[in-house]
Amino acid sequence: IEKNAEKELAKVEDLDQLEDLRIKYLGKKGAIQSVFSKMGKIEAEQRPIVGKNANILKNKIQNWINEHQQKLAAEAAEKRLKKEKIDVSLPGSNLKIGKSHPLSLVTKEIEDIFIGLGFNIAEGPEVESEYYNFEALNIPAHHPARDLQDTLYIDDHYLLRTHTSPVQVRTMEAEEPPVRIIAPGRVYRSDELDASHSPIFHQTEGLVIDKNISFSDLKGTIELIVEALFGQDRKIRFRPSYFPFTEPSAEVDVSCIVCGGDGCSLCSQTGWLEIMGAGMVHPNVLEKSGYDSEIYSGFAFGVGLDRLALLKYGIDDIRVLYENDKRFLEQF
Ligand code: PHE
Repeated sequence: IEKNAEKELAKVEDLDQLEDLRIKYLGKKGAIQSVFSKMGKIEAEQRPIVGKNANILKNKIQNWINEHQQKLAAEAAEKRLKKEKIDVSLPGSNLKIGKSHPLSLVTKEIEDIFIGLGFNIAEGPEVESEYYNFEALNIPAHHPARDLQDTLYIDDHYLLRTHTSPVQVRTMEAEEPPVRIIAPGRVYRSDELDASHSPIFHQTEGLVIDKNISFSDLKGTIELIVEALFGQDRKIRFRPSYFPFTEPSAEVDVSCIVCGGDGCSLCSQTGWLEIMGAGMVHPNVLEKSGYDSEIYSGFAFGVGLDRLALLKYGIDDIRVLYENDKRFLEQF
């Protein structure tokens, strides 16, 4: 038994084979056990000797198996280490780095310009009350301007803000004049989604209140920002318009040169493109927010950020800004 076990053990190459060998020699029906089960047939005085030798052999084989098992395990670990060696001199695989969304880029650019002019960044909630979105902006209940805004209502008193103008009121309530803020953010209207309309879009509000602020301050500020965004070659014009919260009010157009001449789909036949509403803050709005309209005056404007992003990057469909197609987003 001993010689056979030794010979066979030398050939064992893995743990499965080793287990087979253990069963063959040390198992319940194994070679050693069969010696014990034949004890009855052995002469009485021989039995202790045979039993003792069988036990010694059993322990010996068990020890061999243990040793062999350790050897196999060590070999396997060695092999794995060799296989898994890391070459630290190889270049790493390219990690994909996220890119900024075009809307974030335009927002950041505008923020930087206005911070340079001494403005602060203000914020307001997207779920807004009727009071801040309309009432405080001189748009009373049943005023037709409410219909113009295609409001998405949440209940009788709350709605998704239709413009960033409520931040004007919130800022004036919270701060003493002078005020110089811009308030970029998301706004909502129940518009049908198409190439030039989205029910979610972005504006930035601007508000300046101080003593002796005039329409020429508004003009100068807007000229400056349009120039910073689109360069010196573009022309700019103010068209008289109407907003309940400004008086006088204007809409601001830039020449279609900003989208490469007259060919761009956003540009009208006239060669002009509307980018914002603006005006002198209405005395009613100042008074409702607790400012004395005899002492203070100011201007406000609201710019459509999506449109600026489309213009700036030569995109002709607003929907791509919201679809999160990676092939589109990777370009910026
Ligand atoms: N809130 C107006 C709009 O969404 C834009 C605007 C802002 C006009 C500030 C005048 C002053 O159309």
